[in-house]
Amino acid sequence: MCGIVGYVGRSEAAPILLDGLRRLEYRGYDSAGVAIVNGTCIETRKCAGRIADLARLMTRHPPVGHYGISHTRWATHGKVTDENAHPHFDASGRIALVHNGVIENYSALREQLEREGGHTFNSDTDTEVLAHLIGSIYQQLNGADSKARLVNATRAALKQVIGTYGIALVHSEIKDFIVGARRGSPLVLGVGRDENFLASDVSAIVAHTRDAVYLNDFDIVAVSRDSFDISSLAGEAGNYQISKVEFGAEDVSKGDFPHYMLKEIFEQPNSVRDAMRGRLDYDECTAKLGGLNMAPADLRDVNRIILTGCGTALHAALVGEYLIEQLANVPVEVEYASEFRHRNTPMSGDTLVFAISQSGETADTLGALRESRRKGFRTLGICNNVASTIARESDGGVYMHAGPEIGVAATKSFTSQVTILALIGLLLGRIRHLSTSQGSRVIEALEALPEQIEQVLKLSDHVRAIAKKYASADGMLFFGRQFNFPVALEGALKLKEITYLFAEGHPSAELKHGIIALVRPDLPSVFIAPDDAVFSKNLNNIEQVKARKGPIIALTSGNGSAHLKNIASDVIEIPCVSDVVAPVLTAIPLQLLAYHLAVELGRDVDKPRNLAKSVTVE
Ligand code: G6P
Repeated sequence: MCGIVGYVGRSEAAPILLDGLRRLEYRGYDSAGVAIVNGTCIETRKCAGRIADLARLMTRHPPVGHYGISHTRWATHGKVTDENAHPHFDASGRIALVHNGVIENYSALREQLEREGGHTFNSDTDTEVLAHLIGSIYQQLNGADSKARLVNATRAALKQVIGTYGIALVHSEIKDFIVGARRGSPLVLGVGRDENFLASDVSAIVAHTRDAVYLNDFDIVAVSRDSFDISSLAGEAGNYQISKVEFGAEDVSKGDFPHYMLKEIFEQPNSVRDAMRGRLDYDECTAKLGGLNMAPADLRDVNRIILTGCGTALHAALVGEYLIEQLANVPVEVEYASEFRHRNTPMSGDTLVFAISQSGETADTLGALRESRRKGFRTLGICNNVASTIARESDGGVYMHAGPEIGVAATKSFTSQVTILALIGLLLGRIRHLSTSQGSRVIEALEALPEQIEQVLKLSDHVRAIAKKYASADGMLFFGRQFNFPVALEGALKLKEITYLFAEGHPSAELKHGIIALVRPDLPSVFIAPDDAVFSKNLNNIEQVKARKGPIIALTSGNGSAHLKNIASDVIEIPCVSDVVAPVLTAIPLQLLAYHLAVELGRDVDKPRNLAKSVTVE
């Protein structure tokens, strides 16, 4: 949700900033801009539209200079216009600022500046107010060291801010110098040789350096070409460590795939394997999850689990509810992160909370995590992004190790989250009632997944043909039971996100309680009906749709195909799999269905309208 890139070094800043913005475009893509310092003049290029529009503008009028800042926007305050695109300037026009987050008290700060006089605002954004505030304080401060003055002005301004920010700013008369700061929105310092970088996410800078400092909330960083200095908002020296980024530039490219989403769908044999790597204990028939930081006795004491997250992560949590209750017999509740933090969920001392988030930055999930910890509950994270805010603020957790997920519609993160929740269920089960032979069967089912995913991916062309057949439908219904009910929700979410078609997911049996009124000959129903204990129940519901002339796309396995071939309009056959891990397989054809339909409809698959991958506002 908004991406920031800053560069200071010996190379031309423009191509580095532009390349970084392209890699951050998943964070927001309604406008973009750069500010590059050329001598004592700031060259700004900005426009509404995509990074490609900015690139065209920069080709026509190339900005020159060796340090600068840039931004890709997901609008919160102010419409999508050239004026509202970042960077924004202070009243002197010498300070340019980019910002990710929300300045909640910007109206009060704006009135304060207007009373002070000399401030004319050219945009409707909260960001411009912050730029003016920093500029105003900078004018009032004394001292010959302009770098220290700019840092102090930033510090003083941020002390007045209520809200969240990741920011980067330059001053036209302070050579080779960028100031960055964060609170609630991520900011990473990339440490290079004779050059340094700032970015919202390491993917913007891994082509240049793999040495990164993940800044903490309330850090302010002063970045020069050959040094950096981190201090806190209170003015104390900051603690930091330089970490090695695990992935490289090739991992954040599309490779031979036309879209990130398709690449990520096809990465699932590996991402699921990586979610389990080193975590299966064959001797004890259990899972090893050292990152939970909990001894077996602590885990045995847990008598209730709350899983929380948003979007796709919430759907993985719903699968986790079935999984953990089945394997470990521990009551599980799933809470929308945005609701959980604002309501009084009864919790006892032995409640364990998991915050699930691919990005580790989702504001609602972070809010839930903080609320849970504030109430004194052990709160663990299941995250993909290493050193993300949720990962760092939780009491422990499990990393997904899925590699960067760039496509806005989550795919591989869902299957990794489900895999990890199965590991958690296995671990909790084995210290309770689950026998070694039951544990061993779960391990076998998990180990078989990567190979089975490979087989499911071979169905891509078949799913594409189905997508083409239904390209004129104006929506779809998705149904599943038990472990596959959350997959129905996820299938519907994928379809909505990237095709913009109407879609709903329901437990199959709910059909007759109202949804059946929607059934008509031009509205396909997708049934997730593998050959499992509830197949015959699903079949009844399928027949009910068939009787009302609704087209049926059936996702099945084993003997299910024989039953369905004369009933369903289209059958997608996946390998037979244990119930507990079935969602890892059944989700994939639905990801492919949404993908191929979106391509067929000419949608922008990786950057669907109005969405952003990492939603850092509430
Ligand atoms: C946004 C994205 C969804 C994602 C959700 C949670 O809404 O568009 O695809 O599932 O955020 O993201 P997280 O990073 O917390 O898993």
